[in-house]
Amino acid sequence: MTEYKNVLITGGAGFIGSHLGDLLIENGYNVFVVDNLSSGNGHNLNAKAKFYNLNINSIDLENIFKENKIDYVFHFAAQASVSFSTKNPTEDATENILGSINVLKFSKKYAVKKFITSSTAAVYGVPKYLPVDENHTTTCLSFYGLSKLTMEKYTELFGIDYLIFRFANVYGPRQSAHGEAGVVAIFADKMKQNKEIIIHGDGEQTRDFVYVSDIAEVCLCAIQSELKNEIINVSTDKAISINRLFELMAEKYCYKKTPSYTQARFGDIKHSILDNKKCNELLGITPATSVESGLEALVG
Ligand SMILES: NC(=O)c1ccc[n+]([C@@H]2O[C@H](COP(=O)([O-])OP(=O)(O)OC[C@H]3O[C@@H](n4cnc5c(N)ncnc54)[C@H](O)[C@@H]3O)[C@@H](O)[C@H]2O)c1
Repeated sequence: MTEYKNVLITGGAGFIGSHLGDLLIENGYNVFVVDNLSSGNGHNLNAKAKFYNLNINSIDLENIFKENKIDYVFHFAAQASVSFSTKNPTEDATENILGSINVLKFSKKYAVKKFITSSTAAVYGVPKYLPVDENHTTTCLSFYGLSKLTMEKYTELFGIDYLIFRFANVYGPRQSAHGEAGVVAIFADKMKQNKEIIIHGDGEQTRDFVYVSDIAEVCLCAIQSELKNEIINVSTDKAISINRLFELMAEKYCYKKTPSYTQARFGDIKHSILDNKKCNELLGITPATSVESGLEALVG
């Protein structure tokens, strides 16, 4: 029986991609990583992964497919900052649309079995109902959301087997606290250094926080299952307010300062929860780590 064991992860030196790399290697897969280290870090890489320091836009990307019989591609490399996309729409589109097309092109040419890519809750815009399911309209509020949505459309039209995952707010070890980081990484960084914390808005806005190891488990299922050509939310389907998150984290880090509040950021959505029934029905798995347990694992 042919074994399909070679997996390419674009963005595999980043936060989510590196956790997936570890899990795949633990499960006996050969992992190849393409990353230009623009926001990722070489320290995140598993020693058993074969690393190519390359931009996904490069024509040299083809050599990786030529040299290694790639069975599955996880396409995670992206410009992932909303504010960067607002100021630099050309660069955002170059990475997220043209870069994705380059990865899709070689994935098709070298007949990968499945192309799995990471999209985002940002494609939905302001929720018309909660929790937001995959049939919700897509009215992006940022160029980042739009470039991700466009990447989804190219994926659907490319004529290869695919899965598109729309991730909720992912958190966990290795998430950078710099740039436009996730709130958990920012709070953790500030609390460790006993620095002031500023919350945008009244803190009662809610988010669906999903632990990074759960994301990696869902991705592993994606290549172990025959499922293809679907768009699937990956989320906990549970809401937690930023104030509550602050309280939980302050307790874990023994942080005694009170946060200060500032104006809500333009375009910030008040409540965001992603429905995860489809993930459960089609892949038989949903992220199960509670925020309490995820923070416990993060803080140690
Ligand atoms: N973290 C989240 O909450 C979240 C939520 C929804 C979707 N996503 C998506 O998941 C994916 C991974 O996100 P992450 O949080 O791990 O971000 P990350 O910044 O840690 O990882 C992205 C990786 O891609 C690399 N990269 C960027 N542009 C590249 C290019 N042109 N060529 C090669 N490598 C390049 C970076 O160096 C980095 O290692 C992204 O596509 C992001 O849009 C993340």
